[in-house]
Amino acid sequence: MRDPENFWSEIAEEHFVWRKPWDKVLDWNFSTPEVKWFEGAQLNITENCIDRHLATKADKTAIIFEPNDPSEEAQHISYKQLHEKVCAFANVLKEQGIKKGDRVCIYLPMIPELAVSVLACARIGAIHSVVFAGFSATALATRINDCECNMVITSDGSFRGTKTIDLKGIVDEALENTPTIKSVLVVKRTDADINMKDGRDHWLQPLLEKASKECVIEIMDAEDPLFILYTSGSTGKPKGMLHTTAGYMVYSAYTFKNVFQYKEGDVYWCTADIGWITGHSYILYGPLANGATTIMFEGVPNHPDFGRFWEIIEKHKVNQFYTAPTAIRALAKEKLEFVENHDLSSLKVLGTVGEPINEEAWHWYNDNVGKKKSPIVDTWWQTETGGIMISPIPYATPTIPTYATLPLPGIQPALMDEHGKEIEGNQVDGRLCIKFPWPGMARTIWGDHKRYKETYFSAYENKYFTGDGALRDTVGYYRITGRVDDVIIVSGHNLGTAPIEDAINEHPAVAESAIVGFPHDVKGNALYGYVILKETGESRLHENLRKEINQIITEHIGPIAKLDKIQFTVGLPKTRSGKIMRRILRKIAHKDTDNLGDISTLLNPEVFKRS
Ligand code: WT7
Repeated sequence: MRDPENFWSEIAEEHFVWRKPWDKVLDWNFSTPEVKWFEGAQLNITENCIDRHLATKADKTAIIFEPNDPSEEAQHISYKQLHEKVCAFANVLKEQGIKKGDRVCIYLPMIPELAVSVLACARIGAIHSVVFAGFSATALATRINDCECNMVITSDGSFRGTKTIDLKGIVDEALENTPTIKSVLVVKRTDADINMKDGRDHWLQPLLEKASKECVIEIMDAEDPLFILYTSGSTGKPKGMLHTTAGYMVYSAYTFKNVFQYKEGDVYWCTADIGWITGHSYILYGPLANGATTIMFEGVPNHPDFGRFWEIIEKHKVNQFYTAPTAIRALAKEKLEFVENHDLSSLKVLGTVGEPINEEAWHWYNDNVGKKKSPIVDTWWQTETGGIMISPIPYATPTIPTYATLPLPGIQPALMDEHGKEIEGNQVDGRLCIKFPWPGMARTIWGDHKRYKETYFSAYENKYFTGDGALRDTVGYYRITGRVDDVIIVSGHNLGTAPIEDAINEHPAVAESAIVGFPHDVKGNALYGYVILKETGESRLHENLRKEINQIITEHIGPIAKLDKIQFTVGLPKTRSGKIMRRILRKIAHKDTDNLGDISTLLNPEVFKRS
């Protein structure tokens, strides 16, 4: 594309409501790095996602809430009702002292109040930081403290399949170490008997009942922060990716409309949780900015049985369905009757995201869910990119299994070789970078611009480095081959090795540990841990230790980071500079021990023979 600035400015002008137009479309410098889109413009994203639809779509369903328990009735929330709910919630936030620029942590299950609280923050200019409600108390506290939130919004508990989870208990534990939190709003969901701390905790419902259903928007500058969302890095604490208002809005809305070919009247369903970027961009902001009907599902794919997704598609006549390869692989293992028992003829587009999709899963999805009629959009993107970057356009781009295919308009990928040079031409592979800014990109890491620069803009001059490897085939299609850093994607969740190793090392019996990924037929990757004990104990104790190690990981991070395999060993292969050679550990975990490659730089090669 010769003129991306003009391209984005036309889209922004045509499809959104602005309180003041921009003075300059784009200002950028990848070496500082600094990127500003639509500078000088003023707007509010909730006016674009809600208010402006009221004239023509007040009674149209904005959100369909499908509860965990299929016998509980689904809720249809119209744009008018959404407006009232968001305004009332926004007024409650203001009454509690929340103002523009304050950070609000949202730790909620997939219930309507999650959507409403996110939008209420955006309406008054507070910066939301949604933390996935599967994270542990320690992980929650780390995220609250990193961006110094003033408030937590949570619920008495959550339903997941047959389980009830004590969310408020987790919050209480987290808040023992969070000095900036002044108040907690609690949504009633499970009716669990919980502790309410005087002066700090408030039930939401009575406050909402008293609140006005009108709330004027806060006028935001284009580059005012909209939200922070944490993602794992290969080292250290999670990175609070900061997204700003105008660029994120334009990008999430534009990509939603095009990648899913959403047409007026369609019902769209993304199975992600709003605790991840997929939910932010493609359950809430993207669909609502287009006046779409979007489903929020509280439950899990196997409750009450493995037919739940297909039952929901039939029930709500879903037209676009967006899910993760790990879910597809899990469902493909079950009897085909679960799919065949449901009428899926409403489907027009299928999507996948989060990790490479293997060929077998792609075909199963195409044959049994799409009946070979619905194109599959394999969408590649990241928390950092704000929206989809490489994807087919359904009914326009011919798809090939495992290929994310082509960059969306305005996106300029580059493949780099190990010497830092761009690889031109086709039939090549390298490290995936982006050469030119796009409106949805994260602007910084909250409180740590230096880390932002080092992580994304230092590996290759003047380019954003994604951390992924990719190949480009003979016709220029991209296939993402996976992470090239120490991030491991397990069931579509991004996990850094360092925080897990730090957690394991807290166990009093552990001297050192190292984590690598190994292939898993449902999760994509699973975690393999090498653990060195301070004293080599009797092996009968190892079973208990395995349990304790996974318990510590669950407490520090959450159950998603548990190890599938733990191997106790007496040493780890290291380079002379003391760096763990994960390449070798990966090979052992993959059982490819005949081919360990060059181990001449190993300080202690005898480690293999003994482990
Ligand atoms: C990483 C980003 C973006 C929403 C969910 C994950 C991997 C994502 C694909 C895909 C192959 C993919 C990449 C990326 N990834 N989509 N279609 N094919 N890999 O967001 O947690 O920020 O993870 O997910 O490795 O870097 P995230």
